[in-house]
Amino acid sequence: MNVREEVMDLVGQIKRQLRNSQEIGLDAPFLSTARLHYLEGGPQLDGAPSGEDFPCNSLKELEDFISNCGRCKLGTERKNIVFGEGRAEARLVFVGEAPGMEEDLTGRPFVGQAGKLLTDIIKAMGLTRDGVYICNVVKCHPPHNRDPEPDEIGTCLPFLEAQISLIRPKIICTLGRISAQSLIDKGFKITRDRGEWHNFMGIPLMPTYHPAYLLRYPQGKRQVWEDVQEIMLKLGLRDPRRLRD
Ligand code: URA
Repeated sequence: MNVREEVMDLVGQIKRQLRNSQEIGLDAPFLSTARLHYLEGGPQLDGAPSGEDFPCNSLKELEDFISNCGRCKLGTERKNIVFGEGRAEARLVFVGEAPGMEEDLTGRPFVGQAGKLLTDIIKAMGLTRDGVYICNVVKCHPPHNRDPEPDEIGTCLPFLEAQISLIRPKIICTLGRISAQSLIDKGFKITRDRGEWHNFMGIPLMPTYHPAYLLRYPQGKRQVWEDVQEIMLKLGLRDPRRLRD
């Protein structure tokens, strides 16, 4: 591609993104390339209203908007939509991949074993679960704990983007491969690429391992601790040099 073609390609991408934002009634243009990848690879939001006035002024309104969601096939088997929870003005948002079985039953994110470990990590950072916001890329439990599929991710990503645009955190921390691939790049390799700063919707994003991975490979805890220290430093929580073991 020459420079002119690259610029035209970029303009086309931006136009498509603006059109997608309008289709689900969101005023703000979301320019993350991850969403574009998924939306272009998967089906469009068939069930989403078009031309309706959707103000999306609060997390509660957004949660109500997606209640009864049947926009993708996960809607048929899930027990509860796991929208997310925490502080609406949180400076830090954790993004996992999709609810597990316990989350499906309770409607709350990260309440199982992996969730307990995430809670410990949050506490070790000097924060509380109530003080941060926790959610997932996909809001419904995939059957048999399988990975969410690209069309499911593509359908749900706009709602994560709406959540992020309402919270406007200072930092996003993705947990595991799927959320990093969804928010950063499909080619993201968690073992190779974690621990480096990225950007999502203009917000610094730190990708780290999923706590479920740490339950299987506790040796990864050291790297997660390095990654969260980066976050702590950016949040101005404490001098991370004093926190090393
Ligand atoms: N794993 C996730 O990615 N999210 C949850 O909410 C629970 C487990």
